[in-house]
Amino acid sequence: MSKKTLRVSKIKDGTVIDHITGGHALDVVKILGIAERRSGVVSIGMNVPSKSLGRKDIVKIEGRGIASSEVDKIALLAPHATINIIKDYKVIEKKRVKLPDSIKGIVRCDNPACVSNSNEPVESQFLVEKTEPLRLKCHYCGHVMEKADVLKQF
Ligand code: CTP
Ligand code: ZN
Repeated sequence: MSKKTLRVSKIKDGTVIDHITGGHALDVVKILGIAERRSGVVSIGMNVPSKSLGRKDIVKIEGRGIASSEVDKIALLAPHATINIIKDYKVIEKKRVKLPDSIKGIVRCDNPACVSNSNEPVESQFLVEKTEPLRLKCHYCGHVMEKADVLKQF
């Protein structure tokens, strides 16, 4: 490596969320509830130069993994993110987040009259019309939700 310094140092054990679309690191922090929870050290790199994305953000969480429900939420706001699991300084697992064409249960429809908000046992469902910027369309009522609407719920 020709790099003289590493901006954010390597971690021993934990999770590195890499290749987050530039500017979205704090959204990821919000999704993970890091601010509210009593957790380990969290390091955030923002606007780090990246070959593939131009600029990227990185979030490093020491001492904990990440639940699959959290991965699904991250996919909504950072569709290019990579989740790296670190054990004893080594990357032991690397996975790309994946935003499916249709999402169920993660986001609530903002239309109060939507059947998914009624007393009926109907799980919310959205068609992913666009990933960046995010555009979701309710399968039931056609209501469109954008990134800011989704973030309000996390
Ligand atoms: N990382 C870390 N601590 C470690 C090991 C890795 O913080 N002990 C970070 C690296 O800085 C990088 C990410 O985890 O941001 C993935 O590491 P690695 O797979 O070694 O880097 P790349 O090969 O650049 O990853 P990719 O191919 O996904 O771009
Ligand atoms: Zn709806």
